[in-house]
Amino acid sequence: MRHLLDTQTLVREDAMRILDVAEDMADTQRREVKKLPTLRGKTVVNLFFEDSTRTRISFEAAAKRLSADVINFAAKGSSVSKGESLQDTAQTLQAMGADAVVIRHGASGAPRTLATSGWITAGVVNAGDGTHEHPTQALLDAYTIRKRRFGDDSRGRDLSGISVTIVGDILHSRVARSNVWLLHTLGAEVTLVAPPTLVPQDVSRWPVRVLFDLDEALADGPDALMMLRIQLERMNAAYFPTEREYSRRWGLDARRLATLPADSIVMHPGPMNRGLEISAEAADSPRSTVLEQVTNGVSVRMAALYLLLAGVERDEDPRASTQKESTR
Ligand code: NCD
Repeated sequence: MRHLLDTQTLVREDAMRILDVAEDMADTQRREVKKLPTLRGKTVVNLFFEDSTRTRISFEAAAKRLSADVINFAAKGSSVSKGESLQDTAQTLQAMGADAVVIRHGASGAPRTLATSGWITAGVVNAGDGTHEHPTQALLDAYTIRKRRFGDDSRGRDLSGISVTIVGDILHSRVARSNVWLLHTLGAEVTLVAPPTLVPQDVSRWPVRVLFDLDEALADGPDALMMLRIQLERMNAAYFPTEREYSRRWGLDARRLATLPADSIVMHPGPMNRGLEISAEAADSPRSTVLEQVTNGVSVRMAALYLLLAGVERDEDPRASTQKESTR
């Protein structure tokens, strides 16, 4: 693997490899000394054009536990037009000797542009691009589902036969998109539930079933119920009448929680709007995996960085690497 840009093109073998290596990483994280020497001498740059707390900190923890040097670059608020600023920034990172760039950007496709531009030789990890994808979130979600289901017996297993229902603001959610592709690749059955206004136009081309009624979806007893954050910052129109109405029809409250089978789990990528898409009872219940998802995120990101960087020598000259690739 040279980059981790999306789950739509991530093949099953690579996805399983990341999940299994993440198991090994999690084992090392239970030791007293958590730090491994694996990426000593490598430089990981966190390039964040959009706000983020948990994803940035998670990547930082992952890189540091592998002994990489970490540079945090909050590029938000640049006045240069986006294409230019990305190129300038990339060339600066190249000059600094970055081995991996973890990028979060408001524009869908920015990580792929960075990876294929020839501006840098670093491996690129997409940490969320616009409404497009957020592959490490989907990988940590799959890891969490697998761990709850199979425990210490998780290695080598996919998600065949497991049903996952994703609820809420699908339209604006890169987490939903990345999950749909990855869960499908791993054999899970995916149902999406949302108000009609928050279902993307091209959903008929996704490998999912779409429902508009949450209670109907809950009656099927999904193994995992993933509640999405209502992304108010990406909404430029009224997608639902009021927050109260949204919460009444599509929110997970104590009554709905009680209708789920005893071993179903409740997931949320965070940050949560408590009282809107998820009630406090649901968020804090023993079925909630919200904090496990955060813990697992570090192991999954360690695995991704390890697979991208361990044993890889990068060329000094980015043009050399694109030339080599084009003649291959
Ligand atoms: C998600 C994101 O930024 O896409 N959050 C995250 O990575 N922790 C989901 C969200 O913001 O709702």
